[in-house]
Amino acid sequence: MSKLLEVVFENAHEPMIVTDKDGKILLLNRSYREFLNVQDVIGQPVTDVIENTRMHIVGQAGVAEIADIQQIKGQNMIAHRIPIMDEGKVIAVLGTVLFQDVQELTALAAMVAQLKDELTYYKKELRRRMGATYHFDQIVGYSQKLQELKKFSQKVAKSDSTVLITGESGTGKELFAHAIHAESKRKMGPFIRVNCAAIPDSLLESELFGYEEGAFTGAVRRGKKGKFELANHGTILLDEIGDMPLPLQAKLLRVLQEKEVERVGAVRTTPIDVRVIASTNSDMLQSIKEGKFRADLYYRLNVVSLSIPPLRERLEDLPELVSNLLKQLGESTGVAVRAIDEEVWHVLRGYSWPGNVRELKNVLERALHLMEDDILKKEHIWLPVSDEGTPSSLSVSTHAVRPLKQILEEAEQEALRQAMQQAGGNKLNAAKLLQISKSSFYEKWEKYQ
Ligand SMILES: Nc1ncnc2c1ncn2[C@@H]1O[C@H](COP(=O)(O)OP(=O)(O)OP(=O)(O)O)[C@@H](O)[C@H]1O
Ligand SMILES: [Mg+2]
Repeated sequence: MSKLLEVVFENAHEPMIVTDKDGKILLLNRSYREFLNVQDVIGQPVTDVIENTRMHIVGQAGVAEIADIQQIKGQNMIAHRIPIMDEGKVIAVLGTVLFQDVQELTALAAMVAQLKDELTYYKKELRRRMGATYHFDQIVGYSQKLQELKKFSQKVAKSDSTVLITGESGTGKELFAHAIHAESKRKMGPFIRVNCAAIPDSLLESELFGYEEGAFTGAVRRGKKGKFELANHGTILLDEIGDMPLPLQAKLLRVLQEKEVERVGAVRTTPIDVRVIASTNSDMLQSIKEGKFRADLYYRLNVVSLSIPPLRERLEDLPELVSNLLKQLGESTGVAVRAIDEEVWHVLRGYSWPGNVRELKNVLERALHLMEDDILKKEHIWLPVSDEGTPSSLSVSTHAVRPLKQILEEAEQEALRQAMQQAGGNKLNAAKLLQISKSSFYEKWEKYQ
């Protein structure tokens, strides 16, 4: 045997043996010797060295045995025994052992299957927890305004800059924030959203920054991490930043400057590595003028600013949005639309969409419930009264008596919608009109989204 072949044989990972036709050992590689714990056995009968061997039988019969189970040292092995022929006669037999234990292999296969299941589960869970379920390709619209904004945002996503997203209610601010995170180098880190307006002022500080053990009565004994700490190595979305109370604005400014947080009641600070995206639908410059928002914080946040145009300024996006939203809604409601009447487009284009894409989505969802066949018609599109020429959803009385809970919920939803419209999309003012608290407004608003 050439030197190379000898070296390969000797060092092969699999245990290998070569015998002559009578079962006398000619070669036994290191792996096999180590497994059998034998040294120099060349020339000995294989039956003396390896239990349950059939090398000598194969040598006599000249018929290969593939994948035969052979027990050696209490382990089940898969053995291949191949006669090597020369001019019709067996001159040697090559034996290899594939896996050292079949049970081990089965267990391994089962383990791999289980790990695969677990991996799928964790991947899904991770995505869910990171919350970044939206990507740029899910932000639809062919209008130049939107396309340019998407392109710019994609570029911004790669940097670590703080971003301020402004835009009317329902324009897709949260969608953009998600997509920026998903496109950034922090995408494997957490994405944490805090709605600064929905949390009562008294709780916001501990929500954001956490608290130490015994910081106040009722505090969980071991203290609690704040959203900033939870967002470490990821992104935090400070939604409705315009509604943040002034004292907290000062604290937030410090966090952005020092890159460390101080839990309520803590003596030490904790360093954090968090990218901040803030969003608002209020006019920040106006709030600054009125003394409701700190100018220094505004400039800290507004390193990169993205302003999402309202839907009425990009009505070209309607076809793509409608088809996309109908597809989404079709999945959740099980109602498919085969065709859309031309008049529908006329109605949709004639409306001012104060609630933007979210309102469009709600209008379409309602339309799906009203459809009798699979054609979307003008009469299925219910828009509020104030836009001339279109019927109010409240004035169209429902024909059948339905569960009271449903009727109440619809009335509540409609009231929120109208209040938002009157308030020009400002949620704080909408809450005032309805004479309910800001956080209770948010709670209800989010319930119907
Ligand atoms: N360009 C778009 N393409 C597809 N869906 C969109 C688009 N813009 C918004 N949406 C959808 O509209 C809804 C509202 O979007 P989002 O929650 O991001 O709005 P928002 O600006 O954060 O609103 P708010 O100020 O009320 O919080 C979501 O269901 C979102 O998926
Ligand atoms: Mg939002």
